[in-house]
Order: sequence, then structure tokens, then C-alpha cells
Amino acid sequence: MVLKGIIAAVQNLYILTWDVGLFTFNLLTPNLKPGHVVPEGHPGARGSWPEYIAPKEGDSRCSCPALNALANHGVLPRDGKSISLRELTRTVRAAYNFSPSFCYFVPLYCARMLGKDYNQDAVDLSELDLHNGIEHDASLTRQDKYHEPNQGTPYIPYIEELLASSSGKALDGSALLTPDDLARFSAKRRTEAASSNPEFSLDCIHKIFGSSNSSTMLTIMGGRVKDLESFLIEERIPDGWESRVLSRKGLTFQAFNKTVIKVECKTRNLTNKAKKEKTVRATVLRYLLG
Ligand code: HEM
Repeated sequence: MVLKGIIAAVQNLYILTWDVGLFTFNLLTPNLKPGHVVPEGHPGARGSWPEYIAPKEGDSRCSCPALNALANHGVLPRDGKSISLRELTRTVRAAYNFSPSFCYFVPLYCARMLGKDYNQDAVDLSELDLHNGIEHDASLTRQDKYHEPNQGTPYIPYIEELLASSSGKALDGSALLTPDDLARFSAKRRTEAASSNPEFSLDCIHKIFGSSNSSTMLTIMGGRVKDLESFLIEERIPDGWESRVLSRKGLTFQAFNKTVIKVECKTRNLTNKAKKEKTVRATVLRYLLG
């Protein structure tokens, strides 16, 4: 047990150092050319993604729209089953242009949480939904597990509300979701979930996971509401789409932490404000009712 902890700490330190190296490399090298983000020969190169087929009965899906979309296009196995953790690393790296450090860390974290061996083992997508592993309450695209045990399908009313709250505008006038929009909706979800889910829990690490997931989505999609609609509602990659991240070594933890911290701090402030308002309302009501 202690040895496992030490190994995990050393691995994490190694990944963090590697990530700083990749971040520096990205700063020093020219970006990839738009249209050339997905490597030649990989599905999605030059925006050409394999056919989208919605999941059918018996297919395995999970709470991650990005992984489900890859399975829906056959970039990961369409049935979402027996995906080696190393394949997950390679595929996410090529399809979304995340850094090798992120693409190694997240499947490694999954291996640890599921008691599997990163180098040897495989997962069905639904296994990733271990509650309070990475999957947690108050998500933006799923009802809490208490209300909906199957985390493999999106909850459309949340997604529509999130996207309708977008306040940004791109240069071409199209709607953009901003970090502040994410924080507002996330605070609303945390407040609502805390009062409607008798088994609600959200510890510090899951708050950070929540803000990280939503921030990666914002960065990779450049906040484009039109693209997000397709990714989050149908879990479908839009025709011709490629990641908005053009850095050669992809999106590093160092690069997206800025957005994560911004989203998480604002979410906490808004959640605390809502809690205080609720307490004041309850006190006034008690006073009025004598
Ligand atoms: C191997 C890589 C990955 C794994 C194992 C993974 C796993 C997960 C899991 C378990 C969740 C559920 C968290 C929750 O309860 O809210 C999740 C959510 C999410 N992930 Fe991933 N993910 C991966 C890569 C990605 C990538 C590359 C992106 C972006 C392109 C992404 C975007 C998201 C989004 C947007 C959510 C939904 C957040 C919400 O509903 O609040 N993920 N992921």
C-alpha cells in the first residue's frame, strides 16, 4: 500500500516535470498549421472523420462526451468495449491534440482507480463511471448518479441550458461559451444538486475534475457553441472539425490550468454566495412565520 503510494507520487512528479518540458517546447516552436492538427493517416486527419453511428443497445458508453464521440465514429471500438488503456492514450492524443502528459496521466489514473495495470489491461467505457473515481456529482452534462444510474447518456436539458447561457461572441459573430458562463452554470448545478440529491458529495478533487473537464472542452472547442452542441448533445464530431489547440505537443496541464483555476474560483464564489442567500432567506422566513 505504502509502496503503491510512493510509486504513484514518483509517477505524478515525472508527469508534471514532463508536462513543463512539453509546455516550454510549445512556447518555443511554431504552431501546427490549421487543417493539419490530426496526424496524417489517423482518423480525422484533414477533418475527415469516420461515419457517425449512434450507440446501439448493448454498446458501452460513459460519462465523457469526448470518449463517447470517438466510439460513435469508430475511432475507438464502436461497442466501447475492451479498449486498452494504452490505446486510450494514443487515440486521445491524436484525435484531440492533448499533450502526451495529459493522455498518459488520465488513463493511468483510471488504471489506479480500477485496480488495473496501465500497460496490460483494457476497459469498457462504462467502467470509467465508477462513482467518485473521476465521475462525480453536479456534472454539467449528466444528472447525478443518484437520479440516473446510467451515466452513458447526456442529459439534454442541462446541455441546452448551459449553451443557451453563452455570453461570448467570436469574430464571425457566432456564439461563444466563456469561462464565466461555465462557472455560473457549474455553481447552479452544485447548488441544485446539493439540495436535490440526498447522497450528494463533491470533495475538493472532484471539484477540480469538474472544472478541468469543462475547461478542456472549452479550450479544445474554442468555446464554439455550434461545435459544442454536436459534441455534447449527439456526442458527434462535427464534419471537418479539428481541435482548436494548435501547439505542437498539444494541450498541456500547464496551459489549461489557468482556465481551470479561473473557472473553479468563480464557481466557488458563486456557490458560496448562493449558500449565504439561502441561509438569509431561511432566517427571514423563520422570523416571518414566528
Ligand atoms: C483518456 C481520457 C479521458 C478520460 C478517461 C475521461 C473520463 C471522463 C469521465 C469519467 C468524466 C465524467 C466526469 C463527471 O462526472 O462529470 C468525464 C467528463 C467529461 N470529459 Fe472526459 N475523459 C477523457 C478525455 C477527455 C477529453 C480529451 C475531453 C475533451 C476533448 C474530455 C471532456 C470531458 C467533458 C466535457 C466532460 C463532461 C463534464 C461534465 O459533464 O461536467 N474528456 N471524462
